[in-house]
Amino acid sequence: MYIQKTKDKFDKSVGGDPIVMGIESSCDETAVAILKGRRVLANIVASQIDIHRKYGGVVPEIASRSHTDGIIACVDDALKQAKLTLDDIDCIGVTYGAGLIGALLVGVSTAKALALCKDIPLIKVDHIEGHICANYIQTQLEPPFISLVASGGHTSIYSVNGYNDYKILGATRDDAIGEAFDKVARLLGLPYPGGPQVDRLAKEGKPTIKFYKHDKGVSPDLSLSYSGLKTAVVNYIHNLRQRGEDPNAPDICASFTAEAVDLLVDTTIEAATRTGLKTIALAGGVAANSYLRNKLKTEGEGRGFNVLFPPLELCTDNAAMIAMRAYFSAIEGKNRADMTLNARPNL
Ligand code: KG4
Ligand code: ZN
Repeated sequence: MYIQKTKDKFDKSVGGDPIVMGIESSCDETAVAILKGRRVLANIVASQIDIHRKYGGVVPEIASRSHTDGIIACVDDALKQAKLTLDDIDCIGVTYGAGLIGALLVGVSTAKALALCKDIPLIKVDHIEGHICANYIQTQLEPPFISLVASGGHTSIYSVNGYNDYKILGATRDDAIGEAFDKVARLLGLPYPGGPQVDRLAKEGKPTIKFYKHDKGVSPDLSLSYSGLKTAVVNYIHNLRQRGEDPNAPDICASFTAEAVDLLVDTTIEAATRTGLKTIALAGGVAANSYLRNKLKTEGEGRGFNVLFPPLELCTDNAAMIAMRAYFSAIEGKNRADMTLNARPNL
């Protein structure tokens, strides 16, 4: 059994800015980053997009193998970029869920091995909380604030009441918004990952198509749903093709995006209004969507909210956000892990 070492490298840094290594391997990006406080010293992301593109989506087994092949090189590159050695690292934060089990295990095992060999404190990081923490990087943001997390696996609204205090206010009842973006892209024959492609095409189209009739109001429990919209777009495109007509991809992308995003923005603003919090921070891969960024900024600021979002490269999966999340755990003594740490795919 792992015995907690007495020498705690992190202790020497309390009061200063600890140097934190973040490791992320929950899906199809192998990523390692190093932060000193909120400052990025290194940010390495080895994307597997080219490998998975020919299959039209992430193949879990191939993702795990690619993480295994690439993770040590990412650690080395991050140290080189930061001009540091492992002896300079005060703690290691690693994504342990949610995500693909095999993929997560590569990051978790690597982090445990480094922590054990070099006697470095280990911190477990929830991937979604990591996405939210992208908003702290190189900024002065402080809690409390509202965060909308829109990604390939999650669509949730949180109130962030402290650096280690996250409360969920509303979430999708079924599919995640990113999943719906990817499905619509696949139907239109656009390459993986579909979200950025739909974003690009939507700018050339008009939001004139109503895919289905529904009550557009904000749900009283702040819940959302994407499976109905996804199915409606599937049926719309299949019906057109059965009649021998070609779907107008730009209009479909613009209409789907507006329908998917408008209610999400309204629900987020309602959540913020109920809590009385004045700042809304966007997070997750879909936070890179140009329509969502513009809409939330315009609507939110129009109602007196301060609306923030991370730079594009920190919206999609990366390890800088994981290191940032671990930093706040470290300074408050939370989420310490030992050699029993395991991956939690459904966290
Ligand atoms: O956060 P992320 O990188 O991985 C998860 O944790 O899920 O999010 C990936 C999702 C994918 O569904 C991808 O298509 C979507 O984010 N995405 C976008 C855009 N960029 C990435 N969706 C819409 N517009 C974008 N520009
Ligand atoms: Zn993610």
